[in-house]
Amino acid sequence: MKQIEFIKSVYKIKDLPKSKLQHVILCGRSNVGKSTFINKFFGKKKIALTSSAPGKTRSLNFYLAEKKFYVVDLPGFGYAKTAKVEREAWQRLIEDYLKIDKNISLAFHFIDSRHKPTKLDILLNGYLRELEIPYIILMNKVDKLSQSEFAASKKNISQVFPELLFGENFFPYSSVTGKGKSDVENILNKLFLV
Ligand code: GTP
Ligand code: MG
Repeated sequence: MKQIEFIKSVYKIKDLPKSKLQHVILCGRSNVGKSTFINKFFGKKKIALTSSAPGKTRSLNFYLAEKKFYVVDLPGFGYAKTAKVEREAWQRLIEDYLKIDKNISLAFHFIDSRHKPTKLDILLNGYLRELEIPYIILMNKVDKLSQSEFAASKKNISQVFPELLFGENFFPYSSVTGKGKSDVENILNKLFLV
């Protein structure tokens, strides 16, 4: 997939796109690599803003992929250095969006493979399940891991989320090496027949 265009940044629920197109959301902790995913997956170097400092994405950012579906880059959950008021505002925006919008057909929940899933990952997973939003876990930044660390990370995630099936709704991913890209591409192709 190569085609992506930026549509809008949404700060308020009333500004969500009115179109009936389906949404694929990118969610997970701050700094886990959600925005980088967009740039690398679609091969558009700088369409999404990224940063080595957490807290870069501050709105729901809508992109139109292949003229068929929205890819929505969400702000990271729980970045400690952001002012509490602002953090709570993002969190509310995300929660409201997840609750209200009926066009969300899939969530990619990114988990940093170098760390065990956190409370925030468990919270986010709880929302997705409660709202019956289908989700795929991407164990991200696996380029940073040795083989044994890879195995440990996979095990940690499986222990916290025992419902996951590796290779079905749980994939290793790296925007650096391209690992997992074809898996994600297959999933999106199946969903949107592009
Ligand atoms: P917020 O907008 O704060 O929620 O963060 P984000 O999840 O959008 O993360 P972002 O894409 O801005 O990336 C954070 C940092 O991780 C940047 O320095 C990226 O270059 C780096 N990064 C992203 N993906 C990968 C990856 O697959 N491997 C490695 N090694 N680094 C990555
Ligand atoms: Mg971001």
